[in-house]
Amino acid sequence: MCGIFGYCSFLKEKSRKEVLEVLCQGLARQEYRGYDSAGLGVDGDKPGEVIFFKEVGKVAGLRKQIASSNVDVNKTFVSQVSIAHTRWATHGVPSVANCHPLRSDPTAEFCVVHNGIVTNSAALRLVLQKRGFTFESETDTEAVAKLLKYVYDSQADKKNLTFTDLVKAVLKELEGSFAFVFKSTHFPNEIVTARRGSPLLIGVKTDKKLKVDFVDVEFAGQDSKDVKADTLHPTSPSALLAPPSANPKVLRTQSRAFMSEDGLPQPIEFFVASDASAVVEHTKRVLYLEDNDIAHIADGELHIHRLRRQDDRDQTPAQIASTRTIETLEIEIAAIMKGKFHHFMQKEIYEQPESVVNTMRGRVNFDTNQITLGGLRAYLPIMRRGRRIVFIACGTSYHSCIATRAIFEELTEIPVSVELASDFLDRKTPIFRDDVCVFLSQSGETADTILALRYCLERGALCVGVVNTVGSTISRETHCGVHINAGPEIGVASTKAYTSQYIALLMMALQLSEDRISLTERRNQIIAGLHSMPAQIKKVLDLDSVIQQFAQSVADYKSLLLMGRGFQYATCLEGALKIKEISYMHSEGILAGELKHGPLALIDENMPVIIIMTQDSLYPKVQSAFSQITARKAQPIVLCNEGDDGIPANAKTIRVPKTVDCLQGMLNIIPLQLLSYHLAVNKGYDVDFPRNLAKSVTTE
Ligand code: F6R
Repeated sequence: MCGIFGYCSFLKEKSRKEVLEVLCQGLARQEYRGYDSAGLGVDGDKPGEVIFFKEVGKVAGLRKQIASSNVDVNKTFVSQVSIAHTRWATHGVPSVANCHPLRSDPTAEFCVVHNGIVTNSAALRLVLQKRGFTFESETDTEAVAKLLKYVYDSQADKKNLTFTDLVKAVLKELEGSFAFVFKSTHFPNEIVTARRGSPLLIGVKTDKKLKVDFVDVEFAGQDSKDVKADTLHPTSPSALLAPPSANPKVLRTQSRAFMSEDGLPQPIEFFVASDASAVVEHTKRVLYLEDNDIAHIADGELHIHRLRRQDDRDQTPAQIASTRTIETLEIEIAAIMKGKFHHFMQKEIYEQPESVVNTMRGRVNFDTNQITLGGLRAYLPIMRRGRRIVFIACGTSYHSCIATRAIFEELTEIPVSVELASDFLDRKTPIFRDDVCVFLSQSGETADTILALRYCLERGALCVGVVNTVGSTISRETHCGVHINAGPEIGVASTKAYTSQYIALLMMALQLSEDRISLTERRNQIIAGLHSMPAQIKKVLDLDSVIQQFAQSVADYKSLLLMGRGFQYATCLEGALKIKEISYMHSEGILAGELKHGPLALIDENMPVIIIMTQDSLYPKVQSAFSQITARKAQPIVLCNEGDDGIPANAKTIRVPKTVDCLQGMLNIIPLQLLSYHLAVNKGYDVDFPRNLAKSVTTE
C-alpha cells in the first residue's frame, strides 16, 4: 500500500506553486492506496535545502497546510525535483512524525518516500543507533534514509560518488519489499527511484519527439566490483560497527542508458508513481520498472541500472530484459474522475453494464457462439492437458473464483481448487509441472498473490493471470492471461472488477470446453445469457431507491447475515465483504446448507437476514432454509427473481431479472453492492476510503 510520487522538471521555468499542485494532484489520484497521512518535500530557497509539508489524514489536509504556510510559492525554478507520499500505516501509527518523506538528519541530506516494508529495519535501526543516529519516527523507512547518510559519510572519495551507486549500496542491505524515491541535498536536481516487490512507473513528458522509445538497462559494474555489500549486512551488525576503514567502497559505474532528442538539452518532465492514474493527466508515455531496477533521473535524462542479486537467476525473462520500453497508456483521464457520481464506488457500480461489455469485447462472438481469448490461445492445449486447475487470489478476486468454480468444472471436466493466496503459501501447497495455476487480481500487485505466483513459477506450473491493471506485476510475470478490461477501479471496495473477473473466468471455461460437442447446448445457453447481461444489469441498477430503503431499515443493527447456496454462496461471501469493509457493520456470508450446523443459533427476530432465492436447481433447498429461519421468527429480505410467485406474499423482496444459473450471481451481487454503498453513506462514512484499508495490498 501507500502511493509514492516523484516529480522532476528540467529546463522549464516553474513556480513552486505549480510543483506543489502537481504533487498534491499526484497524491490525490493515489489516495486509494492509503490515506493515513500525506507528505511531500520540495526544493527550498537555498541550494540544497528541502521544504517539507506533512499532514495526518488525506491530501485535502495537506493542501490546507500548504495554503496557510508562509513559504514563498511564487518562487520559480528552472529545474527542480520533488517527492511525495500518501501513507497506509504499517510501522507506526498515522502521525506527522511517521509521515513521509523521512529524512536522514535534521538538514535532510537524504530523504525518501517508500511503499512496501523493509523487514530488517529493526536490525538496521539498532546498528545505526549505535553509530550515533537518532530516530524521529517509528517507521521502517527512516532507517533507509539514515543508512544512505551513513554510507555517504563513510566514503573517502565523495567527488566520484554517484547517487545511483550510493543507493545501490544501500538497497543491497535491505530485505523486504519496496518502491522508493530518493532525493538528496548532495545531488541537487537528481532523483533515484528503485523497486523490489512494489509497483513503480515513470511517466515522461516532453514537447519534442524522444530519440528512443526504450531505455537500455545498465548491467555493467557487477556488484562484487562496486560495493562490498557483505561488510554492511545488517544481519551482522558487528560488521557495520567495524572501524571506518572496513566500510564499503562505493565505486562509480558507467551508465550507458539515456534518452534525449538528438543529444540536445530540452525541457522535459518525469513523473514517478506507484500507479498510472497519477501520471495520465500529464502524459501517456510511461515506462514500468521491474524488480531490482534502479532509475536515475538527472539533467533531463533517465538512466536505468540493475541491482544484481543472487536471486536474479530466478527472475522471469521480463525482469532481466536489457531494455525497458516506453509504453502508451490506454486509460483516459475521464476514467479516473468521478463525473456526476458522489463516490468512485458508486460510479464503478454504475459502470458495470459497460465494463462487462468491455470484458467481452472482441472475445465473444454472439453470431457464432465462439470465444477467443487471444492471450490464452497458444496455451490452450497445455491447459486442457493439465491435471487440475488451481485458482489463487485474495478478497473479492477470491470470491469471483468461488463463484465460477462449479461452472468451470462442469464445462472443462478438470478438477478446480480455489485457494486464498496467503493460506496457499502458509500451507506450502504441493504444486506440480502439470498444474495450471490461475492468478486473479484486480490490481495485479497484491503481494500474497504475487508470492504465490512466484512459488508456482518455481515449481514449473503453467501460470495464467486474470488481471485488470495492464503492466502490473502479475500481468507481466505470468506465462499468459486475460486482461479483464474493466477500466481503472479507484474505490477501495472492488465492484466492477468482480463482475468482469466473473466473465473472464467464464469465457476461459467456455473456450477450454469448445471441443466438447456434448456441451454445445449448455455453452450456447451461457453465451446467450452473456449477451443479455448488460441490459439486465441496467435493470438491477434501477432498483437503487428500493435498496436505499432496505439500507435504512437494517442500518441500526449490529450484524447482517447473507444466506444462499450453490452459485449464490459466493454472492453471499462477496456481499458480506462489501458490507463489512465500507459500512463497518458485521456481516457474514453463510452457506444455507450449513445453517443447521451452527449459524441457525444466531437467528431470532432481531437478526436481519438476506436470503438469496433466485431460481436454480437448488431453489427447493433454499426454500427449506427460508422456512427454517422464518420458523425462528426471522423476517428475511428475499433476493429473488422477477415474477417468482413462490415467495410468500408478505415477504420483503428485491426482485432481479432471471438469467442462466451460472450467471445469476453477477446480477445478484449488484443489489448487495448498492446496499453496502447506501449503508456507508447513511452512516456518513468515507465510502471510497474505508478505515484501515487500501486498494492495493502490496505487503504480506
Ligand atoms: C474488497 C477488495 C479486496 C481485494 C483484495 C485483492 O473490496 O477490494 O478484498 O479484492 O485485496 O486485491 P486484488 O484483486 O487487487 O488482488
